[in-house]
Amino acid sequence: KKRLTIPQLQTYKQEGKKIRVITAYDYPFAHLVNGSDIEIILVGDSLGMAVLGYTSTVPVTMEQMLHHCRPVVAGAPDTMVFADLPFGSYNVSIEQAITNANRFMQEGAVDGVKLEGGVRMARTVAAIVEAGIPVMGHIGLTPQTATQLGGFKVQGKDEATARQLIEDALALEAAGVCSIVLECVPAPLAAEITGQLKVPTIGIGAGPDCDGQVLVIHDLIGMYDRFVPKFVKQYAQVGQTISQALAEYAQDVATGRFPDADHSFGLHRERDESRRL
Ligand code: KIV
Ligand code: NA
Repeated sequence: KKRLTIPQLQTYKQEGKKIRVITAYDYPFAHLVNGSDIEIILVGDSLGMAVLGYTSTVPVTMEQMLHHCRPVVAGAPDTMVFADLPFGSYNVSIEQAITNANRFMQEGAVDGVKLEGGVRMARTVAAIVEAGIPVMGHIGLTPQTATQLGGFKVQGKDEATARQLIEDALALEAAGVCSIVLECVPAPLAAEITGQLKVPTIGIGAGPDCDGQVLVIHDLIGMYDRFVPKFVKQYAQVGQTISQALAEYAQDVATGRFPDADHSFGLHRERDESRRL
């Protein structure tokens, strides 16, 4: 596996090759993704909900994001890594946005940054790109401003908001993004936007016609048994597997079944011990 380059994103689109993106927030998951054919890891600010136990992405800080970028990059040397600029890290000024994007490149060692917003963020995006940092856009349902949007809802369902989303996408492309995440957009609209753009679209809840797809890894593996959004496909039930293992361990310790002789050290079995250690 060879790490994807930014120009190759365009090539993928031109050749009709799907771009596969998944989130990761730590070394073990990054290591597993690196061993797959998935092209891009996103250190998303979904960190807040998937890992830190928050109810939204808004409280996630730069320090928390950087803390999680480093182990991901270490675990995935052959995978392109993007990171989310968290809420409050790019809405003060263009200078603040560049400063924080720089931190992701230098301290996080990622390949580029993602930020939310279309037309309203186009000047900021252009400035970060001019500063030499690849930027991924994110429009449609933008979780950092979900309250303003009236909740976690599909975006662009009527003609006016659909036209706004197309304008957002075109403004981001003109500002120099290397790709755009479309979140919770009706499939036909996502197809229309994908057709109008030269840069690839990465869909989540945006139908089959985007140039790529992204999912939160904890959703994909079935880590939690709480509410599952319609756009998530669970490919495993890892949460159940872990719960089962914990239950068996607890039972074994209580009944004395674990540890048994096989998992204990004797006085006269040095060869055995060194093999195990
Ligand atoms: O934070 C995140 O994981 C994201 C993706 C779901 C697009 O922004
Ligand atoms: Na995000």
